[in-house]
Amino acid sequence: MSLRDSLFYSALENIFWITSQTCSELKNYGSSKWWWQVRWALYKAWFGYSPNLAIHKHLKNNNPEILQGNYLPDDCGDLTYGETLPGTAYDLLKTLEINSESKVVDLGCGRGVFPLVAGAAFGAESIGCDIIEDYITRGNRATGYLNLQDKIKFQLLDFTRDPLPPADLYFLSATCLQEETWQKLLTNLHRTAKPDNQVLSISQPLPHSLWQLQMRANVAFTWGKATVYAYSRKGNR
Ligand SMILES: C[S@@+](CC[C@H](N)C(=O)[O-])C[C@H]1O[C@@H](n2cnc3c(N)ncnc32)[C@H](O)[C@@H]1O
Repeated sequence: MSLRDSLFYSALENIFWITSQTCSELKNYGSSKWWWQVRWALYKAWFGYSPNLAIHKHLKNNNPEILQGNYLPDDCGDLTYGETLPGTAYDLLKTLEINSESKVVDLGCGRGVFPLVAGAAFGAESIGCDIIEDYITRGNRATGYLNLQDKIKFQLLDFTRDPLPPADLYFLSATCLQEETWQKLLTNLHRTAKPDNQVLSISQPLPHSLWQLQMRANVAFTWGKATVYAYSRKGNR
């Protein structure tokens, strides 16, 4: 099979996957107001634009040499995009008993599905952080459409070196991070996280010396299924 054919079939496969997951979410959450509100806010905030265009603009401004003409490179490394489905975010937040007293931070939030669901469905204070400016601008726009500016915020931040906002729950999407980036993120997180803080980490386990594993599950994302690890920070308060 040529590269072109294989790209075509994997795109087709992804369309089937997203369609089937959206149908299953419609069945499970179609009667929930938050589900429609989050989807509508994302639709309006991102109308006519896409995460890949946001990545392209970011690279053009910061690393134009790795663009292939007008195209993204085959491997976008740390910036490779994929997102959490709203129903998956809801199930994970419910399992961890997140409520209106909780503070949730998504480190590498992309379009911000996780903080938007945390705020809209659970009333939690939430922050989405990312290195790409368009995710922050459009995330704040989506928050405005939800009328939840007092609960949900988006913040431009490099999670490998900038101070991290305090939280009860950190969400880490580590599937495509390079090893060096992952290690820097962990070091930064270890500086900030307090005993009993929780972490949800996609695809990457955390060191057992510092973190107590609470749950491990295989759940659906836009790219397929992946393992999610839930931890709480060991140590005395
Ligand atoms: C796989 S996406 C996850 C999106 C989101 N967490 C979700 O689950 O829907 C990973 C995100 O991490 C962001 N990212 C990569 N390196 C980063 C860094 N050093 N600081 C902040 N964000 C970063 C990327 O821009 C991308 O949006």
